[in-house]
Amino acid sequence: MSKPKFYITTPIYYANSRPHVGSAYTTIVCDVIARYKRMCGYDVAYLTGTDEHGVNIERAAEKAGVTPQQLVDKNEKIFRELWKLLGITTTGFIRTTEPRHALAVQNLVRRTMRLSPDAIYKKKYEGRYCIYDNLYVSDTPEPADCQICGRPGELVSEENYFFRLSAYQQKLLDLYQSNPQFLYPDFRFNEVKSFVESGLKDISISRKSIKWGIPWPDDPEHVFYVWYDALTSYMSGIGFVDGEHDGPEFKKYWPADIHAMGKEIIRFHAVYWPAFLMAAGIELPKQIVAHGWLLFEQEKMSKSKGNVAYPEPIVKVLGNDALRYYLLRETVFGQDGNFSREALITRHNADLANGLGNLANRVLTMIGNNFGGIVPDRLTEDKALEQNATHIKEAAGRYFDSWRFSEYLQEIWQLISLVDFLLVQKKPWARVAEPQERAAVGSVLYEAAEAIRFATVLAHPVIPDATQKIWEQLGQTGRLADVRIDELKWGGLKTGTKIGKPEGVFPRVDKKEALERIETMENEIRNPGSAQPDTSTTTTKTTAEGASTGTSAAGTAAIPAGAPGAGSPAGTLGASAAGTAATPAIAAPAKIGIEDFAKVELRVGVVKSAEKIAGADKLLKVMVDIGDEVRQVLAGIAPSYAPEELVGRKVVVVTNLAPRKMRGVESNGMLLAASAGPDGKAVLCTFAEDIPAGAKVK
Ligand code: MSP
Repeated sequence: MSKPKFYITTPIYYANSRPHVGSAYTTIVCDVIARYKRMCGYDVAYLTGTDEHGVNIERAAEKAGVTPQQLVDKNEKIFRELWKLLGITTTGFIRTTEPRHALAVQNLVRRTMRLSPDAIYKKKYEGRYCIYDNLYVSDTPEPADCQICGRPGELVSEENYFFRLSAYQQKLLDLYQSNPQFLYPDFRFNEVKSFVESGLKDISISRKSIKWGIPWPDDPEHVFYVWYDALTSYMSGIGFVDGEHDGPEFKKYWPADIHAMGKEIIRFHAVYWPAFLMAAGIELPKQIVAHGWLLFEQEKMSKSKGNVAYPEPIVKVLGNDALRYYLLRETVFGQDGNFSREALITRHNADLANGLGNLANRVLTMIGNNFGGIVPDRLTEDKALEQNATHIKEAAGRYFDSWRFSEYLQEIWQLISLVDFLLVQKKPWARVAEPQERAAVGSVLYEAAEAIRFATVLAHPVIPDATQKIWEQLGQTGRLADVRIDELKWGGLKTGTKIGKPEGVFPRVDKKEALERIETMENEIRNPGSAQPDTSTTTTKTTAEGASTGTSAAGTAAIPAGAPGAGSPAGTLGASAAGTAATPAIAAPAKIGIEDFAKVELRVGVVKSAEKIAGADKLLKVMVDIGDEVRQVLAGIAPSYAPEELVGRKVVVVTNLAPRKMRGVESNGMLLAASAGPDGKAVLCTFAEDIPAGAKVK
């Protein structure tokens, strides 16, 4: 029998900047759903992509001094790489600059004009438009702010093609009425219903003053409004051509079972999109699933606000699973949630390292040490754990099916607690040496291992890397992803199975150190070239995936030997123990011209005061007089200098470095220092002769 199909999409991402944790949230959630559905026997198509047209891309490219195409080519790669790093199992990726997509968009509008001749008409538009959210903010020229981001809309006055949305009001209300599951969660569905009930205005679906877009068929002075263009990607990405000559993938997977997205773009999906499809005579998606925002420092995480956390450093320090687990466990899906790196590390240590990881390791080690690595017999008549596990599996399934991921995970971790409790109660380690207890102890370990197998299968969609490892350590063969959650039954672990080598899958991390490492890497993403890796604190960590990553602690202002500047011929950038340790985190310096060097503004500074920063072992907050002002600079020199010995000292300050925050404290510059060898301490650059604060160093 062929498998039932399931088609899920994320929004396609604006390719004007790199993704942050907030944007990755949608993709991670969809990946969890896609994996889960596969494990329930569905044939899943999962699409994402990049939204590459529109004025925001045009302007971002202009700012970067590149063409729009160059900009989107660069950013599209960043998205693809991130999805790979996060273990995202998409089956398709669509870029709106692809010819197959442009054709689909043009054909959709042609089809609409043919089937619903009144649906599209031309009219002069005058109103306000938000270039960041691509939203028509108001239909009058008076100043108006964007409802999504709050920024002022720009005046647009031009002839446009309009879509007669007003004619679809009743049809949309009928759709909502006949399909009460159309939008999740309910409270957002109610908002949409009220919006539609209050009356719909026709919307412009073309732009004349913009060049970077898909040309309107037979009227190339116009390009498509980006949302009409972007929404069509859900179909073009799986082979839609024109509704008559579509590819097999489209025929198989359309309509989408789920379009998932953040709350700010519900209206486009739950109002405009179904209306566009109705007018084109195409089947409607089955469900719109909307999540809340990830907030950071109390506001929506967004690049324009500067309050973003990036996924890559988190994955490098804690592993992919930790980020995925945290996002699903900590946030109530559908509502806004706070993102905090501290909470993320706490969850990692408590639930993953000390919870599942530690439990699996203890049980498997006991089986390894006492039963020759062979899964012992189950003797017990006490079926409490089996019943609990079965009950938990069913409850978890109900939570998952209603998109309550946090509760889904709580159920699984409830099972982990029950096994912990069983071990505390039965104390197998204390009894195993007694020959008459061996069989009973073996049975306890069987129960524990079988419950771990259950937890591993259920948790796999959320934490795929570690669960696959535990699966192998349990002596199971094949991909855990191929195991069926819906067929999971107690007793699947066979007595006599040879287990694998027990190994920890979630190394516990030191909170302070992990935070510092994440922040350093994030600063490097924000201001490329701004991280100042310090060989004295460089550590090589094994991530949860077992990958070895050379990274360095944050807040270090020391320039390591071998880094650009250290050991420069004229010695103007500070001394170095030339030829000593190479720094793994820094590529061999390329030669730069004097004009590049001249970009760095260096000045003599005199330290006015210095103090430690709470919670950061390596950082000092240094107030330094640079002639015309006193600057606050954070330097990772606490292991080398006591704060009081710095006061009055002359130092070299990089004064034109972009400000950055570490531990929430702003640093406005950098102190130059040298260090030698992996354990070398930072040695500040200073002057033997007298020189006033503010003098230029060159
Ligand atoms: N390009 C449009 C979507 C077109 S779909 C036909 C777009 N792109 S986006 O890059 O701005 O957003 C992509 C996804 O990231 C959306 O689901 C959005 O809600 C999500 N998020 C971006 N920032 C977010 C948070 N801070 N928190 C949670 N999700 C957020 O919109």
